[in-house]
Amino acid sequence: MKSVLFVCLGNICRSPLAEGIARDIVQRKKLDVEVDSCGTGDWHIGEHPCENSVKVAKMHGIDISMLVSRQITRNDLEHFEMIVALDSKNYDDLKRMGAKNLYKLGDFGYDGVDVPDPYFFNGFKGFEKVYEMIHVCVNNLFEIKFGL
Ligand code: 4NP
Repeated sequence: MKSVLFVCLGNICRSPLAEGIARDIVQRKKLDVEVDSCGTGDWHIGEHPCENSVKVAKMHGIDISMLVSRQITRNDLEHFEMIVALDSKNYDDLKRMGAKNLYKLGDFGYDGVDVPDPYFFNGFKGFEKVYEMIHVCVNNLFEIKFGL
């Protein structure tokens, strides 16, 4: 089965947005692709996505409020066909853990740039920018990798 795991640091801001956008594509197009997200860090395990990510997703008709943060496991590295890092720090951490099939989300439409961490940004504006980047790249990824 096709599968993709989106990975950021806390799994409360960026990768839940990527998961929500990807799940929306899977649902609308009735695809057989497993989608998940997680964080490299453990600070937010068990928490729902941050308020601003829930809000920006909702503005685009996507509900991510029920997602729950978890940390990456060794099993994830074997299980997922694609492991997609949101920034280069995540990418390097995953590489060090031995991830193969490793990609960077920004390579799917944003010249490989990092999706910046909006957690410490001032206010909501950063989340709108991050949503736009993730939306473009996740759609391109599905088109390129899954032919959809
Ligand atoms: P995320 O954002 O990696 O996009 O989920 C972060 C959220 C929290 C922290 C770091 C990044 N933190 O260090 O608490």
